[in-house]
Parts: sequence; C-alpha cells; structure tokens
Amino acid sequence: MTTFVHLTDLHISAPEPVDTGLHSDTTATLHAVREMIDGMATPPAFILVSGDLTNHGDLASYQSLRTMMSDLKMPVLYALGNHDTRAGFYAGMLDRAETTLASYDHEAVIEGVHVITLDTSRPDKIGGELDDAQFAFLQAALANQPGLPKILMFHHAPALVMDPDWEWECLSFAATARLAEVVKGHAIAGIFCGHIHMDRFSQWYGIPLVVGMGQHAALDPLFHGQGIRMVQGTSFSVCVLRDSGLTVTCVPLPSTRAETGRHTLADLRAYEAARATAE
Ligand SMILES: [Fe+2]
Repeated sequence: MTTFVHLTDLHISAPEPVDTGLHSDTTATLHAVREMIDGMATPPAFILVSGDLTNHGDLASYQSLRTMMSDLKMPVLYALGNHDTRAGFYAGMLDRAETTLASYDHEAVIEGVHVITLDTSRPDKIGGELDDAQFAFLQAALANQPGLPKILMFHHAPALVMDPDWEWECLSFAATARLAEVVKGHAIAGIFCGHIHMDRFSQWYGIPLVVGMGQHAALDPLFHGQGIRMVQGTSFSVCVLRDSGLTVTCVPLPSTRAETGRHTLADLRAYEAARATAE
C-alpha cells in the first residue's frame, strides 16, 4: 500500500509585483496545504504536481515555489502546464543555467510505484500536445519496471468529448487517440491531470483518470458548456494505491464558491490567438 498526494494548478505568482490577474492568494493556499500534508497521519511517499506550477512562468515565481517546497521530506514530481514556461522552470527549479525549450518528461520509482510524467505544454496553446519523441519516451518507459504499478501524470487529460470547441481543455484529439493505442495492454493504475480546475473522475479505456481542482480557483461544472464560469474553490487529493487498485479522496479547502469571472468560448479563442501571435 502506497499513500501519495496529488496537487495541481498551483498558479504560484511571486509576491512582487502583485499579480492583479490572480483569482486567489495561491501562496497562502499552498502554505495551508503544506501544513495539512505535514500533519497527515500517514505521510505521503511522494507528491504529484500536475502542472500550472506558476501563473505566468516567470523565474521569480518558480524560485518562490521552490523555496516553499524545499523542506518537504518526500520526493515531489512536477509536470508542466500551459501557464508554465520550460525556460523558467528549468532555471528556477532545476538550476539549469542554459535556456532550454526541451519538453520535461521523466520517470521515477518511489516505494514500488513507477511514475511516468509527460510534458503536454506548448507555448502557443491552451490545450495539450505530445510529439513523436514523447510517445517514444512513453513507450520505452512503459516497458521499464515490469511488474510495478504505473502512474501517468500530465497536465492535460485525454479528450473525452471530440468537440473542436473544447479541444483547448484537454490533450489534442490526435494525441489522445495515439495515447489510447500506446497504453493499451499496460497495467496503469491511474492517470493524474489538472488544467480544468475541477475535481473530475473518469474511467478512460479502463484506466482511472483523475483530474484535480487544484489550488488556484475552480471552474463551475454546473455552468460548463456555455463557456466557463470561474468560482472560488480549491482542493487537493490524498491517494492510496493498493493491490486492489486506486483510491482518491478529495480534501476541499473552505470556500465561498463566489464567482470570480466568466469567459465565452470566443474569449478563449481570442486569448489563444493572442498568445500565438506573441510567440
Ligand atoms: Fe490552471
């Protein structure tokens, strides 16, 4: 039996300058979550953080996050999301002096669990993507550690609905189809993701698919489909992997669920177009 914690969408923003685009005090939330993790009766063997580590991908925010997580006694595994930048992450979290744009894909074995992490972020996209090299990495990783339960982590969950208007909230349809082929026949205990800021659990081709609300702000699932409605709300998950399978227990933090904003699909398309132009 292995206990671990799933965090996602931290959206840390360095204290200065004040980030007026932030919907909540993400630093305070992470400190609160840290306290709760530190007090767990069964300390987690590791912590998964499935992307959007920072709100703007700037160096100072990664350095701030690194400081906040520095005294944790267990390994912390990170994925990158659409709010992250590879250059900022590598410099701020890993001390890689050179600016590198390489995807951050990695694997680790901790207390008998094999965790494979893929970087689905793309600079000009809200939605997620995986390229040939990443699929090759995944195929090789899946062949490693035979007999150990495997956990996959990436920011963008596989697409569940093939509606082009909503491809921004998941892994691309093409990558989703290819991923389904690659994982077929492998014993995968769970896939952990974020991005859409709501706690959502699915069964995807027999694999438990866990999306966390995260530690920033929530999307209102009751409004979903008419655009997005953002509300206050954060949670994280305590996960237990047993021989019988995976259990995920959400730990919601107190919230008013007050609305913080609404965006139409046209707003989101305009935002993505502006990002593409800026690149
Ligand atoms: Fe996010």
